[in-house]
Amino acid sequence: MDPVKHSTAPDDEPLFDPDVLKKLDFSQHSSKLNPSISVMDPGPSLLVRPLYSSDYNKGILELLGQLTQVGYVDQETFLKRFTAMKKCSGTYYVIVIEDTTINKVVGAATLVVEQKFVHDSGLRGLLEDVVINDNYRGKQLGKLIVITVCLLAEHIGCYKITLNCKDKLIPFYQSLDFAFEPDQSNSCMTIRFSK
Ligand SMILES: CC(C)(COP(=O)(O)OP(=O)(O)OC[C@H]1O[C@@H](n2cnc3c(N)ncnc32)[C@H](O)[C@@H]1OP(=O)(O)O)[C@@H](O)C(=O)NCCC(=O)NCCS
Repeated sequence: MDPVKHSTAPDDEPLFDPDVLKKLDFSQHSSKLNPSISVMDPGPSLLVRPLYSSDYNKGILELLGQLTQVGYVDQETFLKRFTAMKKCSGTYYVIVIEDTTINKVVGAATLVVEQKFVHDSGLRGLLEDVVINDNYRGKQLGKLIVITVCLLAEHIGCYKITLNCKDKLIPFYQSLDFAFEPDQSNSCMTIRFSK
């Protein structure tokens, strides 16, 4: 079986071309995983691949519920959002890890690519919604999926990739080459329009 593709039903579709993940060269990343795992070889029964429309039935929302509040999202709503994301070609790359023995999504992370006029009409990558099922944590899958997103951002041509995280996760992301850039003259500010 192709290590990146999964078996698809006729109406099942990936959010983005699975082949782009095959092009990522894990030897290029400075963080070496031990034991060595990669997109092409993530470990027994595991598959790293794009989000598919069928992942509603493979527990993607339950997984995201381990990260934050998901609320009530029925399948129709999920598919509408999936289709809207897919139409924004080159913008949304939701990557998941599936345990094929149970047909469940056990990890996820998203690369959002923002098109800009500044930085020579550059592309800025945003790392969002990183989560590993709590039964699968501590096995390097978090690192694997973050490295995958970073290599993908570089492959696409982003000039940088940024993220927001809780302070306790700063060492985790530092171990994956993210630099903590505390700057007294720059702060992240938010208006929350809903709770
Ligand atoms: C953060 C998360 C993705 C890490 O996934 P994981 O598969 O357990 O991570 P890995 O096994 O690849 O890496 C483990 C390393 O991360 C560190 N780490 C993992 N979770 C951590 C946490 N909550 N706080 C501090 N460090 C953490 C571990 O100490 C370990 O460090 P080491 O390699 O120096 O021993 C996972 O804990 C998770 O899904 N948490 C809940 C959702 C969340 O907070 N997501 C991040 C949003 S920014």
